[in-house]
Amino acid sequence: MRKPMVAGNWKMNGLRANLSEVAAIDQAAAKANCDVILCVPATLISQLALKAKNIFIGGQTCHNEASGAHTGDISAEMLQDTGAQYVILGHSERRIDHAEKDESIQQKVLVAWQFGLKAIVCIGETLDQRDSKITLGVIGKQLLNSIPDSVSGENLVIAYEPIWAIGTGLTPTTDQISEVHNFIRVSLEHRFGDQLGHSINILYGGSMNGKNVVEISAIPNVDGGLVGGASLKAQNFIPIIESIG
Ligand code: PGA
Repeated sequence: MRKPMVAGNWKMNGLRANLSEVAAIDQAAAKANCDVILCVPATLISQLALKAKNIFIGGQTCHNEASGAHTGDISAEMLQDTGAQYVILGHSERRIDHAEKDESIQQKVLVAWQFGLKAIVCIGETLDQRDSKITLGVIGKQLLNSIPDSVSGENLVIAYEPIWAIGTGLTPTTDQISEVHNFIRVSLEHRFGDQLGHSINILYGGSMNGKNVVEISAIPNVDGGLVGGASLKAQNFIPIIESIG
């Protein structure tokens, strides 16, 4: 049985003062029947680790090498060392801002696993690709090329995030979400076998909020959410946690 999950993605938001939001989120996580993860800027991970008792902690990217001469980059081992258990990889904002490609994302997943981090791998289509009716082809290619073969089940979470839904207030219809999540499930089962493929959580992300969470999380093969804007404030994030778990 998959345990549902809700992951907050603070992106490039959050100073130490904003960690005041964490106590209430932590209390909600203690009562929830889902795993709650907060993926905060790397600068906040060690402080969050001191405050979070019931929340898992995540980073938002790591380098595809374990260490070395990469000024300004963060390694998987550094994230793990400061208290992270998860890392978001291949978010569309990283793919766009930093020209990340599936192949380097796959390397990042491997290095994350090497240091015991669970990888939340993001995939999703642009509006042009959806309008051109190539969404499933795009998703299939991203899945194949950004996920390594050595999946254990526990070490991987997939987040389906249509790029046009991120931060826009737009969400796909339930049929559109259902079609993509079912496709991802079948692809995972086909590649990794029924049992392993069935065990991997598939999150929906893109303008999820307290109003649409009930409808979206009821869709089969939606195992929770990856939440950006609505995860920054406890008053917005807690209703999502309560609805998912
Ligand atoms: P959003 O972001 O919830 O603000 O749309 C989601 C994400 O980018 O992970």
